[in-house]
Amino acid sequence: MKTILITGCSSGIGYHVAVGLQQRGYRVIATARQPADVEKLKQQGLESIPLDLASSASIHQAMDWLERQTEGKLFALFNNGAYGQPGAIEDLSRDVLRQQLETNLLGWHELTCRVLPLMRRQGVGRIIQNSSVLGLITMRFRGAYNTSKFALEGYTDTLRQELAGSGISVSLIEPGPIKSKFRENGLKAFKANIDVASSPFSDTYKKVLQRLSSADSGDDLFTLGPDAVLDKVIHALESKRPKARYYVTLPTYLFGFLRRILSTRLLDWLLLKASASEHK
Ligand SMILES: NC(=O)c1ccc[n+]([C@@H]2O[C@H](COP(=O)([O-])OP(=O)(O)OC[C@H]3O[C@@H](n4cnc5c(N)ncnc54)[C@H](OP(=O)(O)O)[C@@H]3O)[C@@H](O)[C@H]2O)c1
Repeated sequence: MKTILITGCSSGIGYHVAVGLQQRGYRVIATARQPADVEKLKQQGLESIPLDLASSASIHQAMDWLERQTEGKLFALFNNGAYGQPGAIEDLSRDVLRQQLETNLLGWHELTCRVLPLMRRQGVGRIIQNSSVLGLITMRFRGAYNTSKFALEGYTDTLRQELAGSGISVSLIEPGPIKSKFRENGLKAFKANIDVASSPFSDTYKKVLQRLSSADSGDDLFTLGPDAVLDKVIHALESKRPKARYYVTLPTYLFGFLRRILSTRLLDWLLLKASASEHK
């Protein structure tokens, strides 16, 4: 039985991938940062332990536990746990931007560095990074998240080159909009960290807040369920030649193509139009 470690399993993509892979016969170690979520996952029959990506101690405790339980064997890591900090770049304090990178990038790095020696010893392994269409193109008021996912893209491309020939494959998943708690969690981060009243964008923020808080789920024609990501994760785990990048949803295919053919000026124009239509 192949073991996979997954972060951020309390909701959304992480939860669905954990359940789906367990049903497929994997030994899934489904992690979450809140003890209550770990308990819920256990009650649902998943093997679960706490792992908070913003805490080095938590990452090392989780890995110590995993190494004991699996005798140091781990086939795959699905780096998934993350959140989006909304807000214009100039409204992000150094600390708020640091927190975004601590969770979305540095925690993934620390965990990956703990996992690699196990995979190198086995001569085989799969690392799957849940990036985003926002690691390929940027949008207003997503600067912190864009920064984390663009960094992840460069990080992962480098890692893949360094691991060439090691038996360890590295894949990026690039989801567009997927049904999850992402928007709800983004709203919490916005309210906690952005000073709306003193921002030059305060009027637009009121519309951002309306959009993020509206009872309507915000899902559009292009939003897919987390199963769409599960399919790509399965390919990255089971294919003899896992892809470097897996696009998920039409917007990812579209923007992945447009960013290659349009000038920066034209792409900016298009992305500004798209973001203006969100805040009408
Ligand atoms: N949904 C989309 O449209 C979309 C699109 C592109 C990419 N993605 C990517 O998909 C991944 C999963 O997001 P999702 O859409 O499933 O959203 P979600 O439902 O909000 O799930 C995010 C998960 O990450 C966890 N997390 C947040 N901070 C963490 C930390 N410090 N340590 C460990 N876990 C932490 C959350 O735990 P808590 O419950 O404790 O906060 C939650 O389990 C993310 O990497 C995201 O960037 C999502």
